[in-house]
Amino acid sequence: MKIRFAVVTMSDKGSRGEREDTSGLNLISLLEDEGYEKAFYKVIPDNKEIIVRTLNDICDNMKVPLVLTTGGTGLAPTDVTPEAMSDVIEREVPGIAELMRFESLKITPRACLSRGRAGIRKESLIINLPGSKKASEENLRAVLSTLDHAIEKMLGDQSDCGRV
Ligand code: MTE
Repeated sequence: MKIRFAVVTMSDKGSRGEREDTSGLNLISLLEDEGYEKAFYKVIPDNKEIIVRTLNDICDNMKVPLVLTTGGTGLAPTDVTPEAMSDVIEREVPGIAELMRFESLKITPRACLSRGRAGIRKESLIINLPGSKKASEENLRAVLSTLDHAIEKMLGDQSDCGRV
């Protein structure tokens, strides 16, 4: 069965219809090409309460196993995605963010400016990606091959982890 995913784009301009969300749409087509099934997509403003409410709804009510966010991970005063994560995730998965930054730093030193996090709420894995189309794709590609196994484990798969 296909794994369902959600994409949530954090963008003040995008949420007002003043900027096309090339990043979110690109992530959707990338994941669909990999055999995942889109369950939810929305562009929301960089507002902590709205981010928390949206992510909690996707996890608690829609029960989507893979949730990608794009945007709001940087150093601008409006970038609050990582802060919102504190009110959403129950268990941090630091290695996912570490791998994304490790691979991204080979491309640009500015990768250190993304404060993106990853973590689990109930039976959903949430991963923060940076906002640009280029950066979000590069970050996703860094962890893409681990996601099916991550989700199996999160959902309680008991089998041994033999494969690298
Ligand atoms: N990671 C990769 N792989 N490629 C990039 O071009 N851009 C960086 C960083 N991570 C980048 C990247 C830059 S310039 C910023 S400011 C941060 O992501 C934060 O992006 P955000 O505020 O759009 O979330």
